[in-house]
Amino acid sequence: MDFKIQTAELDSLAGVGADALIVILGGEAVPKGLDAAVAKQVQAAIKLGDFALKAGQALTLTQAEGIKAPRLVLAASGKTTLVAARSALAAGLAQIKSRGAASAAVAFVGFEAGAESLAEQTALAGADAVYLYRHTKPSAPAAPKLAKLALLVGKSEQKAAKAGLARGEAIASGIELARECANRPANYATPTYLGQVVQGLGKTHGLKVEVLDRKAVEKLGMGSFLAVAQGSDEPLRFIVARYEGAAKTVAPVVLVGKGITFDTGGISLKPGAEMDEMKFDMGGAASVIGTLRAVAELRPKLNLVMIVAACENMPSGHAVKPGDVVTSMSGQTIEILNTDAEGRLILCDALTYAERFKPAVVVDVATLTGACVIALGGVRSGMYASDDELAASLTAAGDAALDPCWRMPLDDDYAEGLKSNFADVANIAGRAGGSITAAKFLQRFASKYRWGHLDIAGTAWKGGAAKGATGRPVGLLTHFVLSHAK
Ligand code: BES
Ligand code: MN
Ligand code: ZN
Repeated sequence: MDFKIQTAELDSLAGVGADALIVILGGEAVPKGLDAAVAKQVQAAIKLGDFALKAGQALTLTQAEGIKAPRLVLAASGKTTLVAARSALAAGLAQIKSRGAASAAVAFVGFEAGAESLAEQTALAGADAVYLYRHTKPSAPAAPKLAKLALLVGKSEQKAAKAGLARGEAIASGIELARECANRPANYATPTYLGQVVQGLGKTHGLKVEVLDRKAVEKLGMGSFLAVAQGSDEPLRFIVARYEGAAKTVAPVVLVGKGITFDTGGISLKPGAEMDEMKFDMGGAASVIGTLRAVAELRPKLNLVMIVAACENMPSGHAVKPGDVVTSMSGQTIEILNTDAEGRLILCDALTYAERFKPAVVVDVATLTGACVIALGGVRSGMYASDDELAASLTAAGDAALDPCWRMPLDDDYAEGLKSNFADVANIAGRAGGSITAAKFLQRFASKYRWGHLDIAGTAWKGGAAKGATGRPVGLLTHFVLSHAK
């Protein structure tokens, strides 16, 4: 999708030349200052009972009187918030995306949000409207005709809109990469493949990339990561990439992603129903790879390190067994009581590895627990933070990106159940508070720096008819990383 900002005042939309003019209406009344010819069409449609200024309402008028564009799309949001604007735009784009229009021009009228965030969301909604997984589906329809999207803004808002659009395009490009990686079946998106994707990003953007194999990981003493990987014939990868946009002395932001390319549960085998969805268990890795792309495209003045621990979790004759005790890179021993709690076992070694970067902050991202899906559903990601300032900054990033999270607690009492008679720590506690006890496990390995953790088990993908990766939380992470720019 090709995006641009086009100058047009809201009282002169009728003359805009595009295959479709999409007018997004905020609030419950026809907004003041709206172009007279458009307002006339809105009022007529309301009178006919074909349209209302309520969320979800969208209507296409062809050859509307007084409107230059051959299609006038009206989309209402009922409210005036950014979230409402975003869903109304999605509804407006849905009206035309698979039809004859090759270009569209969008105007938002009557919203409280500024041009910058509206422009960012326009790029995201545009990219989302035309995204379709094709890689292993030759019968998928060809790309929709809609290829050009212009955002119409007044003269005074040009600068803000351009900045928002650039950020939105970069995030959209990161989300696209994350979705492509995560949607690919596990026989395509292997640890080796993820390593190649990051190496490709490195070439394109001049990043330092290291892809470690089993031997190198053994040398580092990552006994916990190795224990998860040992049941699979698919080689593991430990992927590290560095974006350097500031002086070497500036402490980096470090993002760590869980890259389980397929989670069978291992010897603690999962039930069969919906097990295919465990190909999405590298959603954390996909999101940090996507964020790396977004940041590399924007080139902010900051340093970023991305770490992905990638392997399969399989049952086999050489798989790790319940009760096995392994030694993590930190030196702490772990009793693996359940081989299906594998995400924390690969992340703990990645968190220890992160120490070497003397980070300003480390945030790990993982499809970690079914319990988080129960707690927060698919709306907000679970967020944990070692201090209030970091929590506030992750919350703000999620809100700004419309990729929200919700802070969860880290009281030490939650760690009670992780006690083991045979090792320093067990990898599971009871069923209660499962997302929190997983975070408490990780926290033991993240004591040397400021640490945040996102449990994205509910937000990284959708099941059912709309099954597919969402690309979340690339938006949250990109905003968070950008907030560190000098
Ligand atoms: N990848 C899963 C978490 C998951 C499950 C995400 C379902 C989304 C949907 C993770 O590795 C896992 O299996 N966690 C277990 C932990 C348990 C054994 C303590 C879980 O949540 O059931
Ligand atoms: Mn598991
Ligand atoms: Zn898992």
